[in-house]
This record gives sequence, C-alpha cells and structure tokens, in this order.
Amino acid sequence: MLKNYLTKLLTKGCLLTAFFLTACEQTEPPQPIRYAPTGPVSAEQQRPGDPEAGYRALVNNAYISCGPPYTAYSQTASVPRPDQLLTGRTGRNKELPYFLNGITSANGVELVSSNCLYCHAGYFDGKLIIGLGNEFLDFTGNRTSRSERLGQYVKTEAEAQQWRKWADRIAAIAPYITTDTLGINPAVNATLALMAHHDRETLAWSEKPLMQPPKEKPLPVSVPPWWRMKKKHAMFYNAEGRGDHARLMMLASILCTDSVAEARAVDQWAPDIRAYLESLEAPDYPYPINDQLATQGARVFQQNCSACQGSYGKDAYYPNLLIAYEEVGTDPELAKKAVGKEGERYIRWFNQSFFGEIARAEPAPGYIAPPLDGVWATAPYLHNGSVPTIEALLNSPARPRYWLYPEAPTDYDQQTLGWHITEMDYGKTGAKNPKELKRIYDTTLEGYSNTGHIYGDHLNAADRAAIIEYLKSL
Ligand code: HEC
Repeated sequence: MLKNYLTKLLTKGCLLTAFFLTACEQTEPPQPIRYAPTGPVSAEQQRPGDPEAGYRALVNNAYISCGPPYTAYSQTASVPRPDQLLTGRTGRNKELPYFLNGITSANGVELVSSNCLYCHAGYFDGKLIIGLGNEFLDFTGNRTSRSERLGQYVKTEAEAQQWRKWADRIAAIAPYITTDTLGINPAVNATLALMAHHDRETLAWSEKPLMQPPKEKPLPVSVPPWWRMKKKHAMFYNAEGRGDHARLMMLASILCTDSVAEARAVDQWAPDIRAYLESLEAPDYPYPINDQLATQGARVFQQNCSACQGSYGKDAYYPNLLIAYEEVGTDPELAKKAVGKEGERYIRWFNQSFFGEIARAEPAPGYIAPPLDGVWATAPYLHNGSVPTIEALLNSPARPRYWLYPEAPTDYDQQTLGWHITEMDYGKTGAKNPKELKRIYDTTLEGYSNTGHIYGDHLNAADRAAIIEYLKSL
C-alpha cells in the first residue's frame, strides 16, 4: 500500500515533497487550460427543450432566487406602463413590469427579482422587443443606494432576512459593476465577481471572496441580441461558451444560487429557455426599404462581407468564424483578458464546477463574426459598443472619437442605422458636468477603442449606401 501511495505521489511530480504530505497535496499541478483556436467553431449537441415552456419559465420562474420583498418594492415602484406588461405571466407577474419576476422565498416571503429581460429586452420604434439587448441601462451609479433604501420598508423578520441576503450580494458586487459610461453593460464582470464569492464545488455563498475577484472597472460590453443564438455554435463575443448552452445561460442565475441542488433544479427547465431563445427571429425593419438599392447592396455584401458574416435569404449560411483579435483589429482587451493570466482562475472555476459538467469555458484569442440578422436594431456596434452607427462601422475614418451616448432609444437615423448621437470634440476629461461625464463615450479609454473592422473602408459611398439598404432587409 505504501508503495502504491509513493508511486501516486511520484506520478504527481512530488518527488521532493513526498515526505511533506500536506505541502504536496496542496500543490497538485493544475490541469492545463484549454483555449479554443480561431477559425470555424463546430456545432455541439444541445439538450432539447420546449420553447413555449421556456418563455413561461423566463417570465415567471425563480431562476434568480433573491430580491427585495414585494411589500418594500411596491412602496417605491410606479405602476408599470401598458407596454411594460407581458402576456403569459401568472400570479403577481401579471402586474409586474417585464424585467421583474415575482417569486416566493423558502421562508414564504413574496419577492421581486430581476430577470434576464432586464438586459435582454429593449425598445425599438416604441415597441418592446424580447431578445433585443437593452443598450440604455445606466450602471454608472453605485447600486447599493437603491437596495439600502428599500430596506427602510421592510417590516417582518422574515422579510428582513430576505432583503439582507439580496442587499448583501448587491453590496459585494457593487464595486465590480459600476461603469463610467451610460449603456455599458457590466454583466461579464458581475458574473466573475459572483464566481469569486461562490464555492466552486458546493456553490455555497461566501461573504469573503474565495478567489481573487476581477479588476473593479468593467470592460465595456454591449448586450448582443438573443436571436443570434439559433445560428451561433458558441456563446459570447469571444465564443468562450462551449458545450451545453442551457447550462451556460444558467450562470446568469448565480447571484443567489447557493447550492448544487438549487442549480440542478433550475437546470431542469433551462433547456426550455434555450429552446425559446433559439426560436426567436430578428424583428422586421419597421421603415421603408428601397428594394432596388437593397438588391444592389446584396451583391456588394456577397463580395465583401459574406466570407465572415455569412449569407442570408434563400441559401442562408453562417460560417461561425472566430477571427483573431490581431486580424479584426477591434479593441482586444475583452478577448485578451479571457485568455490571459487573469482569466485562468475563472476558467478553472467554471470547468470544475457544476456548470462544467456539460459546458466549458474555452475562450479564444479573438472574436466571433456575428450573424447580421436584425443588425439595424442593435446599435451601437462592435462588442464594446464603440461605433454608434453602421455607416461609421463601414467607414472607419468617419468614426467619432468622442460622442454623447443617447439617453433613450427614441431618435433613430434611417440613413446611418443607429441612434442619433452628438459628436464631441472632447473626451471624459473635458466633461462640463456629471451628467455629460457619464454620457461621453470616450474611445481613447482602455477597452473603449473603436479601431479595427476596416473591411468597409475601401468601398465608395454608393456601395456603402447599398450595403446599408441591404442590411435593413436582414
Ligand atoms: C445584467 C445584464 C444581463 C442579464 C441580467 C443577463 N444577461 Fe445575458 N448577456 C449580457 C451581456 C452583456 C452579454 C454579452 C457577454 C459576452 O458576450 O461577453 C450576454 C450574453 C448572453 C448570451 C450569449 C449571446 C451571444 O450572442 O453569444 C446569452 C444566450 C444570454 N446572455 C442569455 C441570458 C439569459 C438566459 C439570462 C437570464 C438567465 C441572461 N442572459 C441574463 C447581459 C445580461
């Protein structure tokens, strides 16, 4: 037996520490990290699900299982507008705005919790579109003030317990989700911070981080539309979400999922949510399209863009191509961070946790060229939202270095395919007041650069206008 034991130690590379058992066990060599190559991403099998059940789960179920007590919420919330109410909702949900689910805690308290639509539903032309990324959320302020304020309205002991659980978590992640620009979404950093506070094996919450949390400042990320998922073989801009997409999506419920049993319960119907996402189609362009110009644009697109972006219509084809960040030239920080030293601990956490059973975090040093269905609705462009319009995306010298982020999706420019913005001649350091400061998109900041994707630069104005018209038809 001793011989077996020594052989085991020796094969673990523990020759020198064979007599210092604990030291040796603690330094067990970590599994090498697997990164994905650039190039085509292959399809992987997905668990089947029922899209209709998925929609019902999305707008009713407790996948994010904590939040403020309903009684506290109802004293500060305004009555939702009719356009904020959704069909297919049950019980309390019927009267809540689309981005909140009414749930009941284990100790019987009625709570409201933010759902996926908080980030993944947006307005276009006055209509709420499920699956459109909300590019107008404001994460610039510290999130703890609202959660603390709600605490004043808590009455019973059971309510206080639930409110505290939620407020403590918001406080723990607040430093990692405060952005300096309107519209920027901190979901990636929030998830990394929450991983740091959950035990990898048991998923138990820990008040103190169990591994080093991410850098406090989130890198700018824009919210991708859900309808791309029917074509994409991997999730996220850098395609790091491999394997079972439903399991990957459930990572978004990690705010209050504190045990593997709880995570497994959510995972029972996660494939339905995935199936619902996969059933979503891009909306139709709501304004007129010049068909002749669009047909002309289809030819220019085919010659200049299809190799990466795919083709649409009758013989639709999407190549799922991951392009190295050096090649596409767009801001490299997001991709670099995931494949760099800082990303390692999160890859290990994910792959060795419950989530890693059937899914993998496998980032690549690049970005996936997305499908362009409904692209006209998804301004601002590039993964960091640094380019306000398609016109500027296709003409890199015309991209504004500093621009004022629009406050609401109300002023759409049909010529350029983006929200009307104001170009500025100064960046954040020149801001005149706090409101302007948070609205200035400053492409000179780390992570915010608008470089790269110069594939439209060689086109003339007529060809560019034709492509723009064509993109309206996708
Ligand atoms: C706080 C905002 C936020 C919430 C809440 C949120 N997401 Fe996301 N989601 C994002 C952002 C930002 C990304 C892009 C991250 C990236 O690619 O690096 C994303 C990416 C995704 C993607 C990948 C899309 C693609 O094209 O690769 C899917 C699928 C997704 N989310 C599903 C969900 C589901 C399901 C929920 C609820 C359980 C959810 N999200 C909750 C912000 C959010």
